Amino acid sequence: MAKKTVLDFMEMKNNGEKITFLTAYDFPMASFCEKAGMDMVLVGDSAAMVVHGLSGTLPMTMDQMIQHSQAVRRGAPDTFVIGDMPFLSYQVSRESAIENAGRFFKEAGVDAIKLEGGRRVVRQIEGIVEGGMSVMGHIGLTPQSSGQLGGFRAQGRTAEAAIEVIKDAQAIENAGAFALLVEAVPPEVGKIISEMLKIPVLGIGAGMHTDGQLLIVGDMLGYFEAFTPKFVKKYAELGATIETAFGEFRDEVRTGEFPEEQHCYRMLEGEHEKLQNLLKKTPPR
Ligand code: KIV
Repeated sequence: MAKKTVLDFMEMKNNGEKITFLTAYDFPMASFCEKAGMDMVLVGDSAAMVVHGLSGTLPMTMDQMIQHSQAVRRGAPDTFVIGDMPFLSYQVSRESAIENAGRFFKEAGVDAIKLEGGRRVVRQIEGIVEGGMSVMGHIGLTPQSSGQLGGFRAQGRTAEAAIEVIKDAQAIENAGAFALLVEAVPPEVGKIISEMLKIPVLGIGAGMHTDGQLLIVGDMLGYFEAFTPKFVKKYAELGATIETAFGEFRDEVRTGEFPEEQHCYRMLEGEHEKLQNLLKKTPPR
């Protein structure tokens, strides 16, 4: 199937067709996303936690994110891939935001980048869009500023707080983003934003009314075990499956059950005998 474009996503929104969206950080997971026909793949800086075992996303660097994005691009050549800009790659200045966004496109061949924040990142989004690059905004719970938010907490749960999230959403659309990701807000807020904006609104923990849904691959496949946010549905229990497989391997190696004949290479006809004779004549020291 042909790779979708920003125009296709706009058309999907207008037709009420939901957009499917998962994270991936490496070649195999990206290729499974593509085989399953995912509309978009996010190379999220959640790699920090899901892949690198860190407790937050702040330590991720541009070089790490580029490397993950390159692997995902190779695994999903015909899927719309979005690179996630890591902490301090866009906050410092509009210029460094444009340069770092450009690296994702030049070095990893992504189709768009995502960055966190509402009204406070408008200048950066405008600059990147003026540079000819597609930008997805990300508001609500923004993990890179979770310290300011008092932790990984749902946002927009009071009327006043919801107004702030809604103002951020409008600012992101006005800045020229092609889509917006809204994280961890009540469904009512997700609905208002999705109806208010012309661009597609993707939700992760933003209820059932957004134009599409994102889940983090380690959560939905059940192999990220540090914590499970309320919005996660587990579609598999890969963690348990992997542990069982590792345990069976350990036991079979210890008992000698593995490997069996079928897992062994055979010497070529007559070569074993020849080897025995050679060993007799010239035993290795
Ligand atoms: O990095 C990521 O995967 C994200 C999601 C939490 C939305 O930004």
